[in-house]
This record gives sequence, structure tokens and C-alpha cells, in this order.
Amino acid sequence: MVECKERTGMWAWKHPHENGTTTYTKLTGDVRMYDVDFGYVKDKIVLHNITLYAEPGQKVAFVGATGAGKTTITNLINRFYDIADGKIRYDGININKI
Ligand SMILES: Nc1ncnc2c1ncn2[C@@H]1O[C@H](COP(=O)(O)OP(=O)(O)OP(=O)(O)O)[C@@H](O)[C@H]1O
Ligand SMILES: [Mg+2]
Repeated sequence: MVECKERTGMWAWKHPHENGTTTYTKLTGDVRMYDVDFGYVKDKIVLHNITLYAEPGQKVAFVGATGAGKTTITNLINRFYDIADGKIRYDGININKI
């Protein structure tokens, strides 16, 4: 895949590498978390070992008591915060690389 000015209806993740090259990965919408740990403040973990996925086109609902971590998970998917441990992948790409 390459970048172009015309509208093609196709979307890609732009993935810059340390050696200066850039690769494009077709965007399908696959979102995964693996064993994620996170806390807003040091020494107070609010998510521990969270593993979940949403496949392309799938609709997912977060259900749980107040304070369970629903908003926190959506904050992490948007990378408003960086995780303490584990992995978040969009279409197989590390969220930190996009
Ligand atoms: N900005 C923040 N700083 C510190 N702690 C926070 C912050 N936001 C949330 N927390 C804590 O993180 C935990 C998860 O909260 P979160 O807001 O993700 O829950 P929630 O499931 O969205 O709850 P609700 O149903 O009330 O919206 C709670 O213990 C909460 O007190
Ligand atoms: Mg909330």
C-alpha cells in the first residue's frame, strides 16, 4: 500500500520505523489488549491482566459496576494514557508505534 491524494475508500495504519522507512498496513479495525496493567497514579493499579478483543465490524459493550474500569479501558484504546504492562494492538500493530 502507498499513500495517495485520491480517495480510494481504503485506509491504512502509517507505521514509521526507526531506520526512516514507513510501512502501511491495511486498516481492518481489529483491536486487542493482552495482559494489560494500568494505574492513573503510581502504586495504585486499576486494571490488572486485562485481555480482550474486538474483531473488525464487531460491536462490543463494556458492562460493570461504577469504578470497574470501563472508561479507563476506552481511554487506553485511544492512547490518552500509556499502559504500565501488557500490549495493545491495532491490526497487529503496537499502539505506541502509530
Ligand atoms: N483520572 C483519574 N485519576 C485517578 N484515578 C482514576 C481516574 N479516573 C478513574 N480513576 C479510578 O480508576 C478506577 C476505574 O474507574 P473508571 O472511571 O474507569 O470506571 P467506570 O467503569 O468507567 O465507572 P462508571 O460506571 O462510574 O463510569 C476507579 O477506581 C476510579 O476511581
Ligand atoms: Mg465511566
